[in-house]
Amino acid sequence: MKRKLIAGNWKMNGSLAANTQLVQGVRAGLAQALEGKACDVAVCVPAPYLAQVAGLLGDSGVALGAQDVSAHEQGAYTGEVSAAMLRDFATRYAIVGHSERRQYHGETDDTVATKTQRALAAGITPIVCVGETLAERDAGRTEEVVKRQLAAVIHLNGHCISEIVVAYEPVWAIGTGKTATPEQAQAVHAVLRAQLKAATEHADRVHILYGGSMNAANAAELLAQPDIDGGLIGGAALKPTDFLSIIRAGAR
Ligand code: PGA
Repeated sequence: MKRKLIAGNWKMNGSLAANTQLVQGVRAGLAQALEGKACDVAVCVPAPYLAQVAGLLGDSGVALGAQDVSAHEQGAYTGEVSAAMLRDFATRYAIVGHSERRQYHGETDDTVATKTQRALAAGITPIVCVGETLAERDAGRTEEVVKRQLAAVIHLNGHCISEIVVAYEPVWAIGTGKTATPEQAQAVHAVLRAQLKAATEHADRVHILYGGSMNAANAAELLAQPDIDGGLIGGAALKPTDFLSIIRAGAR
């Protein structure tokens, strides 16, 4: 069985002082949480703190991630951060197409596809987020929506879809305290896995993360599902004890 991947998404939270405390707390408890077992761990931090957090993570084995990447390669795009810039700070992952970017910044499936390509071209693993809104779920459109979102990135120029990480994040579960039940999440993960299988023989290698109010109390049950390969953790990634509990639940 492949290792689980537990990735924190700090969103627009943190400060020099708070980041130091948070990373030091995670580092201090990491070995104990893993208990000799293995789990891939990452933290996706605000761009201005990449260099600071890279230094704080040091040789801890925790990987560095960004929360977005520009769709453009370089040039006159004020405010944008390119994949090459992220790479300069040893960024291993970049979240792409988070629902907050889709919702508040007008990102379309096409934008998400371009960003995914940019990340891969720079040697960064994109964590591509998909997920339905409450209205879409209530209308019975969950499967159609997540399949459309994944289809946008399934044919990549020069790369195999097995090089990406997928995160299923039902929009109604993000930051709301409403978690999808393990059965609800597994059902969608199985749909995504089948779609990946149709595209590549390496589909089983792809990590499909669950995100949306995953916390210390519900992580173990979610991570026990056959197609849930890890978590993308928002709120609970801001407290070392909570984040470490989730890592403990993911260690195999
Ligand atoms: P949450 O956020 O864990 O706070 O619900 C998850 C995410 O948006 O990545």
